[in-house]
Amino acid sequence: MLIFQLVCMNITLQYACSSSNHFDVLDYGAINNINNDSSQAFLNAWKVVCNSEVDNPTLLVPRWKSFLVNPIVFTGPCKPDNINFQILGEIVAPPLPSAWEKHDPSQWLAFNGVRGLRVYGSGTVNGQGFGWWNQSCKYHPAMSGCTKLAPTAVKFLSCNETALSGIHLINSSQTHVTLVGCDTFHIDNLLIEAPGNTPNTDGIHLQHARNVIITNTEIGTGDDCISVGDYTSNIDILNVTCGPGHGISIGSLGRGGNYVQVSNIVVKNVYFKGTTNGARIKTWQEGRGFVRRVIFENIFFNTVKNPLIIDQHYGSIKGSQIKESMGVWISDVTYRNFYGTSASQVAINLNCSESRTCNHITLDSIMLWPAPRLDKELTSYCSNGYGVAIGVVHPPSCLQQTTNMAKIIDLLTRIKG
Ligand SMILES: *[C@@H]1O[C@H](CO)[C@@H](O)[C@H](O)[C@H]1NC(C)=O
Ligand SMILES: *[C@@H]1O[C@H](CO)[C@@H](O)[C@H](O)[C@H]1NC(C)=O
Ligand SMILES: *[C@@H]1O[C@H](CO)[C@@H](O)[C@H](O)[C@H]1NC(C)=O
Ligand SMILES: *[C@@H]1O[C@H](CO)[C@@H](O)[C@H](O)[C@H]1NC(C)=O
Ligand SMILES: *[C@@H]1O[C@H](CO)[C@@H](O)[C@H](O)[C@H]1NC(C)=O
Ligand SMILES: *[C@@H]1O[C@H](CO)[C@@H](O)[C@H](O)[C@H]1NC(C)=O
Repeated sequence: MLIFQLVCMNITLQYACSSSNHFDVLDYGAINNINNDSSQAFLNAWKVVCNSEVDNPTLLVPRWKSFLVNPIVFTGPCKPDNINFQILGEIVAPPLPSAWEKHDPSQWLAFNGVRGLRVYGSGTVNGQGFGWWNQSCKYHPAMSGCTKLAPTAVKFLSCNETALSGIHLINSSQTHVTLVGCDTFHIDNLLIEAPGNTPNTDGIHLQHARNVIITNTEIGTGDDCISVGDYTSNIDILNVTCGPGHGISIGSLGRGGNYVQVSNIVVKNVYFKGTTNGARIKTWQEGRGFVRRVIFENIFFNTVKNPLIIDQHYGSIKGSQIKESMGVWISDVTYRNFYGTSASQVAINLNCSESRTCNHITLDSIMLWPAPRLDKELTSYCSNGYGVAIGVVHPPSCLQQTTNMAKIIDLLTRIKG
């Protein structure tokens, strides 16, 4: 109530008070200075927007302004069916990890339980990750008090009918965008950038998510451009540029014996430049469950180390036999129209496990050749990979024809799954 009066006392906002559905964070006390904390102002503006009686209200982060925001959660459910969070200016994270002392270190800006949210604009979300990179165990393993977990820049939890578009995300301390427990989500036209040597700075990570479309997005970071985690289905990734980074990865899946359920993933029209992987599926030997119906199509590679790779032994320690009887089934995976250069000799690498073979793999029209500095003929490596090759496949396919036993096992898993 107090806020409402304050806003309405401002003459220039008389009109805004009565009829606008825009709520500018400046009117709720935000300060255009990255040395002043604007978190409470953002929360106050959110509270008003979330409880607003007007249709389609917009929380506005104005153009040409920069705001320091500490770790916060924008919580739903909200009254309006649709809510806009428009970022035209810049939101900046606190530079030092100590700002998270009383907060969940896994996230910086989080949206929890909001339906019909649209986050968009031409503005920037700057994670200022240096303080976290600088103490990460990955790059400073000997440092006492090093950290493995660092905040995701923007996290969406338990969301439904959400859109994220236009904004520029830079230098997150860890993953830039994470979806957990989301249904019907469209990501479009994002630019995500962090230096190629930064620890675990994935672009977009999905988990417990279905009906997700990611389009027209450019990602260059220190880890996976996009990683598709456990419990995901109906994911479409279209028109994406990836590099530097570790590629587009389904996985890692099945860590700690998790039951994996991943299906209907389409990755189409992707350009990989200088990445360590291209189309990758990685599962832990100790995992269970399945990955099925995956299509990688129209993929271009410029000097990519592992253009096409399945690793069903991810994270396994050499010589350990304990979990050999477990594994994640991988089936119905199509690789179609692959062109470009490989920076390593094994351009096609299907490294599947003996107990859980890879079934119904299709290689269709693959043309890969050595990157300029690689003075070797390319090869394919298959271990327990079954399926067919169609059209020209170079390096030549090493897939085995599906055995009757594999067919029976596959049929059984389909019935059970
Ligand atoms: C912004 O921070 C500076 C330095 O901490 C402080 O002196 C100033 O009063 C703050 N400005 C506002 C409007 O709170
Ligand atoms: C991390 O960054 C801080 C602040 O810039 C610096 O004082 C410190 O020496 C850095 N630590 C390491 C291990 O690089
Ligand atoms: C991101 O971080 C790197 C390394 O600290 C820095 O060189 C670069 O300028 C930062 N990018 C932006 C847009 O601030
Ligand atoms: C999202 O909304 C649809 C339609 O109301 C509903 O069927 C679905 O269960 C919801 N999903 C989640 C994760 O809440
Ligand atoms: C992908 O990019 C092409 C060419 O720029 C464009 O015509 C098409 O609409 C894009 N697809 C999607 C789903 O945005
Ligand atoms: C296949 O995986 C095994 C187990 O992790 C590993 O030792 C081997 O080097 C891999 N082979 C190739 C060609 O990547």
